[in-house]
Formats: sequence, C-alpha cells, structure tokens
Amino acid sequence: MIAKTSPEVGGMGHPIKRKEDSRFIQGKGNYVDDVRLPGMVYGHMVRSPYAHARLKSINTEKAKQLPGVLAIITGEDLAKANLAWMPTLFFDKQMVLATGKVLFQAQEVAFVVAEDQYTAADAAELVEVEYEELPVLVDPHKATDPDAPILRDDREEKSNHIFHWEVGDRAATDRDFQNAPVKATVHAISQRCHPAPLETCGCVADFNKATEKLTVYLTSQAPHAHRTLFALVGGIPEQNIRVLSPDIGGGFGNKVPIYPGYVCAVVASLTLGVPVKWIETRSENLQSTGFARDYHMTAEIAADKNGKVKALRVKTLADHGAFNAAAQPTKFPAGLFSVCTGSYDFENSFCEVDGVYTNKAPGGIAYRCSFRITEAAYLIERAIDVLAAELKMDPAEFRRKNFIQPDKFPYKTPLGWTYDSGNYEGALDKALEMVGYRELRKEQEEKRKKGELMGIGISSFTEAVGAGPAHTFDIAGIKMFDSAEIRVHPTGKAICRMGTKSQGQGHETTYAQIVAQELGIPASDVIIEEGDTDTAPYGLGTYASRSTPTSGAATAMAARKIRDKAKEIAAHLLECSEADLEWETGKFFVKGAPSKSKTIQEIAFAAYTNIPEGLEAGLEAVNYYDPPNLTFPFGAYICVVDIDKGTGEVKVRRFVAVDDCGNVINPMIVEGQIHGGLTEGLAIAFMQLIDYDENGNVQGGTLMDYLIPTAVETPHWETGSTCTPSPHHPFGAKGVGESPNVGSPAAFVNAVVDALSHLGVKHIDMPITPWKVWKVLKEKGVVS
Ligand code: CDP
Repeated sequence: MIAKTSPEVGGMGHPIKRKEDSRFIQGKGNYVDDVRLPGMVYGHMVRSPYAHARLKSINTEKAKQLPGVLAIITGEDLAKANLAWMPTLFFDKQMVLATGKVLFQAQEVAFVVAEDQYTAADAAELVEVEYEELPVLVDPHKATDPDAPILRDDREEKSNHIFHWEVGDRAATDRDFQNAPVKATVHAISQRCHPAPLETCGCVADFNKATEKLTVYLTSQAPHAHRTLFALVGGIPEQNIRVLSPDIGGGFGNKVPIYPGYVCAVVASLTLGVPVKWIETRSENLQSTGFARDYHMTAEIAADKNGKVKALRVKTLADHGAFNAAAQPTKFPAGLFSVCTGSYDFENSFCEVDGVYTNKAPGGIAYRCSFRITEAAYLIERAIDVLAAELKMDPAEFRRKNFIQPDKFPYKTPLGWTYDSGNYEGALDKALEMVGYRELRKEQEEKRKKGELMGIGISSFTEAVGAGPAHTFDIAGIKMFDSAEIRVHPTGKAICRMGTKSQGQGHETTYAQIVAQELGIPASDVIIEEGDTDTAPYGLGTYASRSTPTSGAATAMAARKIRDKAKEIAAHLLECSEADLEWETGKFFVKGAPSKSKTIQEIAFAAYTNIPEGLEAGLEAVNYYDPPNLTFPFGAYICVVDIDKGTGEVKVRRFVAVDDCGNVINPMIVEGQIHGGLTEGLAIAFMQLIDYDENGNVQGGTLMDYLIPTAVETPHWETGSTCTPSPHHPFGAKGVGESPNVGSPAAFVNAVVDALSHLGVKHIDMPITPWKVWKVLKEKGVVS
C-alpha cells in the first residue's frame, strides 16, 4: 500500500486537477503552429494524385514566377545532398521527395517555400508534374502473386514481401491441434485506421547561420530521439540541434516518425537561413502520415471438450504500405503482437506474421497501443468468444475457466513474455457485478423471444507497456530507458525535467505528484518541464503508455537519491547520526523524539546555506531508469448493445470498464485517459477506416469520410478499477493510457456478434457500420 499524503501535499492517489488545464482552457496553450518567429516563411507540399506512377518530369518554372515564392525543392535537389531518401524506424528507407516513382496517393513530390502559407499553397498548384501511371497494388493478399507489380525498384529483392516472422513452438502447437476434440477459427481484420489527433503534424525549422544552431519546434512524441536522428541523417553536429516540442494536441503514435515535411523544412531553413514553418492540413494528415493497424489475422484455438483451451495458432498478413516505416522496437518486426495469448493459460502457441508492401501510405504506428497489442488483444478476445459460442458456453464462464490464475504470476507465456502480475478473474467479476450480467442475460433471452436484438460483449484483455527493458528494446539502436532530473531550490520548491513528452496525458500534474509522494514537497510547488532537448535529460519519449513505467519510475528513483542526501543534511542539522533518523512525508525526525525534526524545505535551504563538511552543495539528482520488465496492466470491459432492425444501427446502451494499472497516481487523470481511449475504441469499432479503391485512391482522407465521434455518438462510460501493483516498478504502477483503446474494440464487436449469434453470425469486421449490419440482417432474412 502506498502511504497517503495530505491533500495539501497532493501525492499519489489524489484526484488533483490538471495544472496544465488552466492555460489550455484559457486558450493560452503554445502549439507548434503558435510559434511565430521574425522573418518566418512557409512550406507547402506538392503531392501525387496517383498511387503508383513513374515520375517523368517536374516543371517548377511557373510556380517560381509567382511573387512571394522563395524556393522549390524536389527529390533531385535533395539527392544532391544525399537526402532524397531517409531511413525509416524499421530497417527500410523511404523517399523524402519522390525520385523516379511515386508509390502512394498523396506522396510528397516537391516542397514549395513562400513568404506566406497561401502563396506557398497557390504555387504548389502551379508545379507541373508529368506522371506515367503504373498498375496499382491495393490488396495485400495479392502482394506476392506472380503477376503483382513490384513496387520497390530500389530494393535488391524483387518482391513485395518484406518479412516473415514467427515465434513459439510450431510442432507442439500443431500436435495439440491434431489431437484436439474442439477447435475454433476466426478471421479478423484490424483495419487500417488513423489516430487523427486534434493537432496535425508540423514544425518550424530555424537555422541560425551565425551560430550554426538549428532549432526545430516539432510536434514530437520523442524529441531526443528525433534530435539524434536529425544529427545522424542530416550530418549536423548534435550539440547544434535543439528540438523543442511545445504543447502537443494529441499524438497517439502519429507523432513518433520523422515525416518528409520536417526534413524539407529543415533543408529549406538551412538553405535560406530563415525560419521555415510547415504545418500539414487535415487531409494531408489522414492521407500521408502514420496509419495504424492493417493486420489481416487468423486465430485458431484448440480446446478439450470441457472448454479448457490448449493451444493457439495465429497467422497474420501485415499491410505496411509503400515503405516499412513501422514505429516499433527493432527486435520486433510485428511489434509486441506475440502478446496474443492474452489473459489465457495456453500450453502451446505459435504465431507467424508476414509483412508486405502495397501502394498505400507508410506508417504502421502504434496508435495508442504498445506496438500491435491492440491487434493482438482484439484477435484473442474475438477468438475466445467464437470458441465459447462453438461450445455453447457463456463467454464470461468460458473466460473464467481459462484465465491465468493469480498464483501463477510472474507468468511466462508460451510466446516468451513474462507477465509481472495479474488478477483477471477479479477484474471480470467486478465488471460483471457492475453491469448486472445475470439480469442482462435474462433480458436478452426475453428480447430474443420478441425478435429484438440485444447483445452483451466481454473483453478481458492484457496489455504490455513500459518499453524497455534496454536489453531487449531499442529504437534505431537507442536503448529504451527513460529519465528524470529533479532540482530542489533553496526555498524548497522544485523543477523536474523528463525524457518523455506529454501530448495531453497530464504529465505536469502526475510527475509532480510522484515528487510530492516521495519528498513531501507539495505537488503545487513542483514545475514539470518536458520537450526541450537542450535542458531535459535524454529519453525515448512518450508512446506505448511508457511514461509512468519508465520516467515515472525514474522520477521516484531520483527523488529517493535526493532523500538520501537530505538525510545526511538533516543529521547534520539535528546533530544526530543518520541511523537515528526516520522519514515521514516531508520531514526527517529523531526516532523517539518526533518534535526534533527538519522539514524538506528546511533541509533544502540548508543544502545551499549550511552544508555539512565534505558534502556537495545543492539538492538535485538525475536518474536513467531501465525497467527490469514491461508492466502488464489489464482490464475487463463489458458492452451492451441494442440493434435497430430497420436501420442496422447499433446503439451502445451500457459500457462498463474495469481497469487495473496497479497503484494509481491520479485517479481523475486515469479516468480521463479511460474515457478518451474508449471513445477512440468506439470509433474504430463502428466508424473508422482508411480505405482505398482499386486505383489506390484514399477513401477516408477527410473528416467527412473518416468519422470522429462526437458527444452524440459517445455513450456514458461506467468505470471501475481493481489494483494489482507491479512487483518490479518502484511504486507499483503500470501504464494505463492505451488500455481502453486496446481492450475496447473486442468488447464492442463481441456485443454486436452476440446480438446476432442466434442467427448464425460468427464475426463481422470493423468498422461495424449500420449498412454492414443491415446487410447481415437482410442476408439472414430478418429484414426484407
Ligand atoms: O506514456 P503515457 O503518458 O501516454 O501513458 P501512461 O504512463 O499510462 O500515463 C497516462 C497518464 O495517466 C499520465 O498522466 C500518468 O501519470 C497517469 N497514470 C496514473 O495516474 N497512474 C497510473 N498507474 C498510470 C498512469
């Protein structure tokens, strides 16, 4: 148990209001597009209308003549500086500006720089590009057909196949399947979607020719990593690069990769010697940056007659688009997809994934998920429901029978992960009780008799968050630790800087609460600063719910170093030995004489005014935390839906979400995270798809086609929690930000399929639109 501090101190567990919100609700946030520098000019991309075409010529003459146009950069110009291609985050390379061919619609072809953004956009229209259309490959299932067009001329291997990756014991799994009396199969697509953050991607590149310093204001979830990549790829000395990520309006993985617009803005600023701003439009964001998912999956489960699962076999085709730009640790070609055994105790398992190129935008980003875990959780939770239906067992009962039991932790999965702690039945029982499961099943039975369609869907997911540990996890070779630096000022106030970067998660509040918990300095006296590579300690950034497990841990460890030093100073002030001192939030006191004490504020003052001989002045510490393992949060979600037979519309009547992220820093912020993630899950389940026609034209490239849920579509979320601390995290916390996005899609889909199961429906692919449901109802003869 974590000792509770007073509300004035505001340590862990206090639902204190978010410090950052006072500036956001007053419109005083400072986003990249708010940055206005003297002499700043603007960049605009010329993009390809074709998905696959040879680039025959680019004529920039007319565009250059437009008054206000300063420069036009093409792939050929970049090639001279060896920058026409850049490395992706996953052992591939990607065109910055097209050279030779374009490989997806909206690919970057030229970069126009002008005095204002409207002139830049107008001039982009005047750039004349001649294309010769080539056959287009859209369907990943056809990527390796003998007659498929080969997309990547630049690669030695003349194939659209990128990788084959497998893990687990194939022979043992196959054997289990041969002998199994019960088997179930599900083919499920985790469709191509996009995080669509409120703020699109952008940057201001400011190269100062006098100091040779490049400052890049960047919508970056990983400022330090981006600085290093700019140095390595651009050849600029790293000390001369400062990446500044100001406020960010949502990242969700979209702001992890380096995009061509960033590189072009930097090149333009280096060339022109003035600041260059590039901010993408909404359509550019949806069409060309970081898509997510696009996993085409098959799961088979072998079980005995009593419904005890034995083996899981998974085969997946991953559509990576034109370049393999998946943003994930280098040892994991399919991310952490092998967490696909989920919360269940399988003896054997085998999982294989093949990646292919198609004429679509690259990305493969971890959209609010720890590198492909949403796909994995969706698949296993769907497969479990399909098997339960096959056995005519209640899906809650079936899950209970197959959960990994609490006494089995730490639990090694057949695919190699070691789960730190868990109590899946505890979370499910709580969710069942909150939703009133038995009554709902009765109601469903009654409704079925009357021909009404009502469904209940369960998802008992396991997440894996907090990459590192550094021995296994690196991105582009940089090990995945993270950091915190705390400085306590003479008056007992403090500033802390981290290697992570909030994009709306409330870090300015929660990290301050960790310091308050550990040192007793009130959270309101602690300033948190992230996103400036000139001042913050090096870190890998914020994505995959890693901030609490890594920088959160580093904050506690740095605070503990400070407390050790504070003890030395307290002993000096109280004229006793350190061994005689005891700590109580915010002060050291002499054992047995509590009135003889020194507060952390008094100690801080002494650290600068009355230092014991031989001790360094000051009170500060830095910690680079390399977690020994991931943390494995989990949850049980239950969704209740009613389906309108006339329109096929699915109404989410109830949604209960019980989450377990170990010890909670700020329950109000956690609840906010859950609400946001569930709303995204709802959108993915029912509304969102980045689709392509047979010519590779993007069908979901505007917010008219790519729907964002509003308050009208969003149901009331009922949240609850259980607490199973992580045994290896310094204060027993696990990450939580992405859990709702990971766990909820399966609950929504399971509910819809449950509503239609008596009609023989076993699966419907997302997004489950009214049209799709209506077609099923028509096919089943429910409507004429
Ligand atoms: O890396 P990211 O910030 O996206 O994810 P996270 O570590 O799961 O944290 C999301 C937000 O929830 C942060 O403000 C955390 O401090 C907070 N949180 C919490 O209050 N208690 C936890 N056990 C986990 C996260």
